[in-house]
Amino acid sequence: MRRGGLQRSMDLEDDEAIFDDLHFWEAIEEEELFRLISAESNRATVIESLRLLTPDPLWTERIIKFVENGSVETRCVLSWLAFHLKPRNYLEIGVRRGFSMAVVARQSPKVKIYGFDKWVRRYGGVANPGSDFVRSELLKVGFRNQVQFFCGDSHCLLPLFFGKRKPNLLERIKYRHKFRNRPCEFDLMTVDGDHSLLGAYQDLSDVMPHCRIGGVVVFDDIVPPDPTRDALGELGDDPEGWGTLLGVWKEIKLKFPNFRYFEYLREPPGVGLAVRLR
Ligand SMILES: C[S@@+](CC[C@H](N)C(=O)[O-])C[C@H]1O[C@@H](n2cnc3c(N)ncnc32)[C@H](O)[C@@H]1O
Repeated sequence: MRRGGLQRSMDLEDDEAIFDDLHFWEAIEEEELFRLISAESNRATVIESLRLLTPDPLWTERIIKFVENGSVETRCVLSWLAFHLKPRNYLEIGVRRGFSMAVVARQSPKVKIYGFDKWVRRYGGVANPGSDFVRSELLKVGFRNQVQFFCGDSHCLLPLFFGKRKPNLLERIKYRHKFRNRPCEFDLMTVDGDHSLLGAYQDLSDVMPHCRIGGVVVFDDIVPPDPTRDALGELGDDPEGWGTLLGVWKEIKLKFPNFRYFEYLREPPGVGLAVRLR
């Protein structure tokens, strides 16, 4: 525990660091947590960060408006966590143009970042230019620390990254240097890549065992149903009858009872947090 006590932690709106403090996570009410996250100062920081980035023709203004209106958005959650957790490392599945990553990087400039994306072309109707572009976006928010990108399918790369699958010869050559010194536990992780039911379940299942105690996994888009997503058939096959990403999240709660779960479900897109307690 870096600095003690629930009372101390509860006053946190503009304050610096809190917690490796499990008491905080055990005691805080869900509503109180989202009240802290939607504090004006945090929302202002998110908006500032997004304004430093290359405008995304479709999403920048939409997200900013949403945040201005006081809604809890994934970037607000990440900004707040990055500031208070002071993560040493951050893993992100689904980087796209780097909105979430830039917000974390700006709030926690010493963090080491590991990003996974297969950079689906024109994801969500907007150019998805890839890792070099995101690297330059991170410079715009003043980030100068280590960032590594893994370009490809997360379902193939994560088991390799975490040593659950043996690399073939090509992979051994390709990743030998990149995988050297990789952490096996992370302080902060975001799962926002494959939005199919089975794919999201797989990504969560791959990363959750590698969250450190006191660390947090953030999962975007849990409020169903986004009709445009459904129309795109993004949810894919549903052999288990989960129905939506919220159904996936509920299944993950059963699978990993050693986490405490928080959910913001008031409006789409919705966001979930899983905090590892033991
Ligand atoms: C919703 S966007 C991520 C948004 C990002 N977190 C942000 O803050 O802007 C989803 C990203 O996941 C990527 N993606 C989709 N399926 C994937 C997969 N199986 N493996 C890796 N990346 C994937 C897409 O290329 C896209 O860039």
